[in-house]
Amino acid sequence: TMGREDMLREELGSIHGIPLYKSFVEGWPQVEAFQARPDDLLIATYPKSGTTWLSEILDMIYHDGDVEKCRRDAIFNRVPFLEMKIPEMPSGIELLEKTPSPRLVKTHLPVQLLPTSFRDKDCKVIYVARNPKDVVISYYYFYQMAKIHPDPGTLGEFLETFMAGKVAYGSWYEHVRGWWEKKQEKQLLYLFYEDMKKDPQREVQKILQFLGKEVTEGTLARILHHTSFQEMRKNPATNYETIPTVLMDHSLSPFLRKGISGDWKNHFTVAQNERFDQHYQEHMAGSDLHFQMEV
Ligand code: A3P
Repeated sequence: TMGREDMLREELGSIHGIPLYKSFVEGWPQVEAFQARPDDLLIATYPKSGTTWLSEILDMIYHDGDVEKCRRDAIFNRVPFLEMKIPEMPSGIELLEKTPSPRLVKTHLPVQLLPTSFRDKDCKVIYVARNPKDVVISYYYFYQMAKIHPDPGTLGEFLETFMAGKVAYGSWYEHVRGWWEKKQEKQLLYLFYEDMKKDPQREVQKILQFLGKEVTEGTLARILHHTSFQEMRKNPATNYETIPTVLMDHSLSPFLRKGISGDWKNHFTVAQNERFDQHYQEHMAGSDLHFQMEV
């Protein structure tokens, strides 16, 4: 069994060909056997796509906009991370077993790795996708601050690693496309980070409709205010500041870093952008899934 120090800057392992942290690989049998409940709501994303934002919105909806209730614990305890397993911490599975229904469940798994129980129980799923240029920049900073990741190297090197699908959770292209194809089959709401930035009220209303819930105008306004980037950034229950520094070093980059669309423009060189566009076109060819690279 791994200790915490074995995990720091460790190379990735893999599950069914998808690169993943070795400590998560150790916990995989429990994840595969996970028993979902019919009223579980799954929040599925590729990393750095707005998972924490959507999680806070949903916890607020589930608590009818009660800000104090949503401060009861850190977001990673209120919305357990299904496949998470880190030495000396309760695993996602252990947290979920203790969580009363109706549960919110976070996962970054690609659709083909989702435990079968979610399908058997016909659970609702909300997926949020973000354009890959902002994802890769956000991921680059996250690799630096979250020590569970291997050293990302230079941005130029990390862009190649990302395009090759050799980052944790594998290819962004396969992830967004895989979940998009699933949209036809099931109870799945597919959202975009860029739409949430542009018109958060409209997107929250979509979520409410999908859940069959209604809230008053005042509650809606409270949800929107409380889940804004500025509010979430200073809220210890959403900004991950309670994670030990040895695991996440916010002095290298805060978890809620910039919260905008188009930050890639401050990082990509012209040549990197051309190469990325070319690669994007090749890997998204034939899909009716489209991304806004800025808003
Ligand atoms: P940046 O690094 O671009 O700032 P995840 O929760 O999936 O790990 O995604 C993290 C990204 O979402 C970070 O992006 C973070 O700042 C952004 N984010 C978190 N909360 C947000 C909010 N309320 N509004 C906008 N962006 C938010």
